[in-house]
Amino acid sequence: MNARIHDPLGLAERYAAARTLIREAGALAMDMFRRRNELVIEEKGVQDMVSIADRMVEDHIRSYINSTYEDDAIVGEERGGSAEAARYVWVIDPIDGTACFVNGMHAWCISIGIMLDGEPVIGVVFDPNADELFHACSGHGAWVGATRLKVNDTPSLTGGVLGVGFSHRVGTETFVPFLDGILNKGGMFIRNGSGALMISYVAAGRLIGYFEPHINSWDCLAGIVLVREAGGVCNDFLDNNGLEKGNPILAAGPRLYELLVPLTLPFC
Ligand code: IPD
Ligand code: CA
Ligand code: CA
Repeated sequence: MNARIHDPLGLAERYAAARTLIREAGALAMDMFRRRNELVIEEKGVQDMVSIADRMVEDHIRSYINSTYEDDAIVGEERGGSAEAARYVWVIDPIDGTACFVNGMHAWCISIGIMLDGEPVIGVVFDPNADELFHACSGHGAWVGATRLKVNDTPSLTGGVLGVGFSHRVGTETFVPFLDGILNKGGMFIRNGSGALMISYVAAGRLIGYFEPHINSWDCLAGIVLVREAGGVCNDFLDNNGLEKGNPILAAGPRLYELLVPLTLPFC
């Protein structure tokens, strides 16, 4: 979208700013990834880690937003926040895939979603290792770099690989029946450690869908815009305060989505 077009709400301006900002944040994160052996790692919960890199990257993103858009609200994984009464809310995961990051694997990214009046409208996800910038703005399509994205609209679980996620925030009963269901139908799954990246892959048609029984808004808000703009379908993630508490996420092409609903959401 051209930032010079008529832009009374500042949407195009924020879309351009988010793309620049996420590349800067990516360079900062990449620098720390290369020096990861020096980082102190803390455990926030079971299989839930954080390092100084996560906090420094979030602080960098926040300081730009606070100085440029002082009326906008921010919700970020490491420093919290709430939507308050702001029209624009930036929803940030400074490093999604921290377990990969701290252990020297490449499946991590930065994710920035933006809501306007309660609706997800902008999504940017940057993978510094692959130098891939996934980006979307409502009504303007989803892109990786300059290439337009389209979901894989297979009607069948055998039409590709499904992305999945699981965390110990919920019990295994929310997930194991789903795995059983898809395997019994000839499906196959992958979990790479970064929900934000895998949801971007759904938008790119690389994965046929993504399911996780509980995910936080900073992991998926950008991805929701990407998938919808690439012609896919997502559940109503923001229902019942999904922004602050998280919810299940299901994203897929329109035909597979219908098939997945009975295998996933009833267990969550
Ligand atoms: C996690 C990753 C993981 C997903 C979890 C998230 P983090 O985020 O996205 O793939 O399954 O729900 O919490 O801790 O790496 O930022
Ligand atoms: Ca995350
Ligand atoms: Ca994170």
